[in-house]
Amino acid sequence: MSVSEEITLNVETLCNELNKHNYSYYVLDNPSIPDAEYDRLLLSLKKLETEYPSLITPESPTQRVGGEPLAGFTQVSHELPMLSLDNAFNEEDMIDFNRRVADRLKLADKDGEYENVEYACEPKLDGIAVSLLYEDGILIRGATRGDGQTGENITENVRTINSIPLKLLGNDFPKRLEVRGEIYMPKSAFDALNTEAERLGNKPFVNPRNAAAGSLRQLDPKITASRNLEMCCYSVGIVEGGALANTHETSLRKLNGWGLRINAEMQVVKGIPGCMKYYNFMADKRNTLPYEIDGIVFKVNDLDRQVRLGFVSKAPRWAIAHKFPAQEELTKVLDVDFQVGRTGAVTPVARLAPVFVGGVTVSNATLHNMDEIKRLGVMIGDAVIIRRAGDVIPQIVKVIEEKRTGDVKSILIPSHCPVCDSEVLQVEGEAVARCSGGLFCGAQRKEAIKHFASRKAMDIDGLGDKLVEALVDSGDVETVAGLFTLTKDQVSGLERMADKSAENLLRSLENAKETTLARFVYSLGIREVGETTARTLANAFGSLANIKMASVESLLEVPDIGPIMANHIVSFFEQSHNNEIIDQLIEAGVHWPDVEIDKKSQALQGKTFVITGTLSDMTREEAKEQLLALGAKVSGSVSKKTHCVIAGEAAGSKLKKAEDLGIKVMNEKGFITFISSFAL
Ligand code: IVH
Repeated sequence: MSVSEEITLNVETLCNELNKHNYSYYVLDNPSIPDAEYDRLLLSLKKLETEYPSLITPESPTQRVGGEPLAGFTQVSHELPMLSLDNAFNEEDMIDFNRRVADRLKLADKDGEYENVEYACEPKLDGIAVSLLYEDGILIRGATRGDGQTGENITENVRTINSIPLKLLGNDFPKRLEVRGEIYMPKSAFDALNTEAERLGNKPFVNPRNAAAGSLRQLDPKITASRNLEMCCYSVGIVEGGALANTHETSLRKLNGWGLRINAEMQVVKGIPGCMKYYNFMADKRNTLPYEIDGIVFKVNDLDRQVRLGFVSKAPRWAIAHKFPAQEELTKVLDVDFQVGRTGAVTPVARLAPVFVGGVTVSNATLHNMDEIKRLGVMIGDAVIIRRAGDVIPQIVKVIEEKRTGDVKSILIPSHCPVCDSEVLQVEGEAVARCSGGLFCGAQRKEAIKHFASRKAMDIDGLGDKLVEALVDSGDVETVAGLFTLTKDQVSGLERMADKSAENLLRSLENAKETTLARFVYSLGIREVGETTARTLANAFGSLANIKMASVESLLEVPDIGPIMANHIVSFFEQSHNNEIIDQLIEAGVHWPDVEIDKKSQALQGKTFVITGTLSDMTREEAKEQLLALGAKVSGSVSKKTHCVIAGEAAGSKLKKAEDLGIKVMNEKGFITFISSFAL
């Protein structure tokens, strides 16, 4: 039975339309239709294809994940070798590179001066180099770089990556076009993958690059499909039956127009001053990018010049990679100490052989808790990879077991607190071990006071960590209330404390007495009660007396307060010594205005919601208004910062992303119950 022309046309139109929306969403990062609408179109296409299987084409958006897993990867020999890049490690290397370029191009005038060469600059993505071959606009092969001559055929896997078009857009592309670029795993996908690995008790990946490589090397494309990989194109190989442009930059823009993703950070600059400015700009931006980069690639922008410059062994003369300082280095665990925190948590800290990483010398790394030590399998004396990215505290990411000598020692949690000698207790089901000394423990007391004085709590200007330690060590301050009975003599009696600083501190203490209920509650350091919860409590109960009297049940009625938190709050106020200190603080003059309970408009302040899919009892606009009225923000896209996703019928990629990121999801019914809990 031949299928009617109308149906054939319908299938084709749907394919094209979906491919275009895919492009807007994954390549341009600018969705053109709501997810639910996309899902409806995809469903109509699926229905037609099920009814008329002869109309299924390999480039249909329904065909990204094929059938059975492969038995193995076949080899692909690259018609044009896939090159690598020379590296520069400092400005001098860059100046040398630029001089070599100018000399070869004979750019120097009679005075030896030369024009500033135009360079295209792009971040150097830390992923896996791949080649995509398009014939007549259809993706026919994907391959890894391998050794540059021979790679592996990973077509089935690259087909699952949404930012790779199965069919190019437009019709002015070359008949045969080989596009090259990097497949990488965005940081968010990496975090989600490792969180899941940990949950399942599997070994996590060391970094996004290894995770991307591991995900591409899967024989079952369904696994690759679940890993949220992305592709970014940075050059071409074979170009036959058509042309690109005169410059690297315009060529990449052409690729972009045909539906391929290119780096949004690309810029064209002049000479080494331009290159260094871009390098410094990106070095600052590095940690805020959603993907990992390990340097900047600079390429002579003019393609004729590139041809004239040519290649040397395995690298082009017209490009260079200026590397950033490494964020991972090898070092040795010399010892492990245990630190006691505000809540008594006993945290193992690795003392390391000092190593320069991420731009600073690092000699300590937190090991978090005993579970982390078990997961890493780390012992004292081990060679380890440590990682420091941006301002994040250094982490041990991996033990190099091959380097282990016989001379290693197990890490054991101390049975008694290293500060106060009280017993260390490990609660069943909790990863953290705690000192049982409470405020008897000097370490816990110091941390409690530091927290109380901190900027988001009582904001006591001039009372830094060192000063708190000195005041506790000298016996002048035993509890937070003791701060307000300090005399000038006591303070100026401390080492290195000038009269002026002593006066300033006393003035700050006086000023700090005027505070808000939320700050005061936060400053008490109740376990699990952060700044946001403290504000929620203040707004929900209005006064300290009400919070103190609140039962677990009434606390649970407050949005965002769960049973663990509720129990911590109740037991905090059950302990008489906590109430004594609160009374002493009030007696010393600490005060705040009560909060009007009818602060409905602020109940969801600072929270971002995303609404997706179709709601049946209200429109999305109505749902949005209700959220806005409670002070929430409503956003169109899901990110790590999203507080909750409200998913109606036929919710699509946003729901998936929320699930991948472990973000709370509510269905319409749940949302209605949630929203009505605010009706006062
Ligand atoms: S251009 C002939 N551009 O770095 C030029 N490479 O160390 C070929 N890489 O194998 C490479 N980002 O995997 C180029 N924007 C970028 C890149 C990039 C990452 C990788 C690529 C290459 C390796 C060389």
